[in-house]
This record gives sequence, C-alpha cells and structure tokens, in this order.
Amino acid sequence: MDLKVDNGDGIDSWKEVTLVYNAALRQIQTRMEILNDEFQHVHQYNPIEHIKARIKTPESIVKKLKRHGYASTIDNMVRYVNDIAGIRIICSFTSDIYRIADMIREQRDIKVIAVKDYITFPKASGYKSYHMIVTLPVYLSDRNVDTKVEIQIRTVAMDFWASLEHKIHYKFEGDAPDHIKSELVECAKMVTDLDARMLSLNEEILAIVQGTESEVVKESKKVI
Ligand code: GTP
Ligand code: MG
Repeated sequence: MDLKVDNGDGIDSWKEVTLVYNAALRQIQTRMEILNDEFQHVHQYNPIEHIKARIKTPESIVKKLKRHGYASTIDNMVRYVNDIAGIRIICSFTSDIYRIADMIREQRDIKVIAVKDYITFPKASGYKSYHMIVTLPVYLSDRNVDTKVEIQIRTVAMDFWASLEHKIHYKFEGDAPDHIKSELVECAKMVTDLDARMLSLNEEILAIVQGTESEVVKESKKVI
C-alpha cells in the first residue's frame, strides 16, 4: 500500500490510514448491496440477509501486532494486519456463500489475496465461515491505494453459533471448561445439519414453485 508513512508524531498517517480503510469498507459494502439488489431483480430473491462492517480499534491493532512480535508502527499495521477493515456478509443458505464469493472474484479491480474455507474445513472449535482477504483500489486525489479488506461470509445459523462462541471464548479468556467446549462442538454439528436441511427444503420449495409456474404457462397456452 502506498501510504505516506510517519512524518512527525504519526497522527497524520494514522488519520490517513483510517480514512483509506473506511473508504475501502464503504465501497465493499455498497458493492455487496448492489449485487444483492441485482440478484433480487434477476432471481427474485436476496442471497444476503444482512451485512456488518467494522474498522478494527487501535487497541486491537496494537494487541495483534504485539502478539505477532511486531512493533506498533503504521507501516507494520498496513503490512501485517489483514483485518483492519472487516465486513461480514450473512446469508440464508450455504450455497449463497459460494455464489457471493464467486461474484466478488468476478469484480475486475478486486484482487483476492487469501481464502480460508472453514466451511469445507471447519476449525476444531466447530467454527464455520468463508474468509477472503481482498484488496481493492481507493482513489484519492493524487494516487490510488490498494487497500486490504477481510470478508467473512457465513449463514445466519453459523453467525448465531459464532457470536455465542465468541462471547464464551472472551468470558473464559480462551480457556472455557471442557464440557462447554464439547457442547459447542455438538451445537456446531447441529448448525451444519440445520443448514443442510434448510437448503434442501428451499430447493424442494423452488422446484415446486417452478413446476407450478410452468403448469400455469402450459394452461395459459391451452387458453390461447
Ligand atoms: P485473527 O488473528 O483472530 O484475526 O485470526 P487469523 O488472522 O489467524 O485468521 P482467521 O481466519 O483464523 O480468523 C479471522 C477471524 O475469524 C477472527 O478474527 C474471528 O472474527 C473469526 N474466527 C476465527 N476463528 C474463530 C472461532 O473459532 N470462533 C469465532 N467465534 N470466530 C472465529
Ligand atoms: Mg480478526
């Protein structure tokens, strides 16, 4: 990223970095909303239930740099912290996740720099989600800055699980009692099962609706 780095107390650089990450986040959010609107227009349904976006707090950036053994400089945060700008896309069905990921890949100025598919390969905790680190250009008055954004895509059920697990993880500072951990793993299996059943139910409903529609078309042809 071509940012002007530290010329004095670092405040100017920090403000500039925040401005650029905010701009990148707003762009991604708008693009996702446009995809959702267009999908509604073409397929009469919304793959995205809702979107959450956040900029990582300075405290949390410093903590992450420390954890990885880096000094707290603007240069290091831009280079090593991939989730300063983060967006979470919540969908109804697992199939929507891959559809959205593909639509993101198709955008010409977005570069996918890393993917973690925790849906095909869930974490030991039971965590499931599809992660992408992308860069997209932010056009400033005198230059373009390729800016990293972390995109997390998951179903409503995965999100429900992850928010409770996060609370528990935080509460026990990462060291929850074993029975709670194994109960969470059990709940994660239920989430997987629920997602699969809801998806096949939806497919069945779609097939019936499409079948009914073609019957209506056949009937209308008879009338003509
Ligand atoms: P972080 O240092 O936490 O950002 O992780 P990472 O750089 O190794 O990347 P990873 O893809 O594993 O995780 C990125 C983000 O995914 C985290 O900041 C969380 O928001 C989410 N996440 C990953 N693992 C878990 C998990 O086990 N439980 C929950 N609730 N969220 C998780
Ligand atoms: Mg993170």
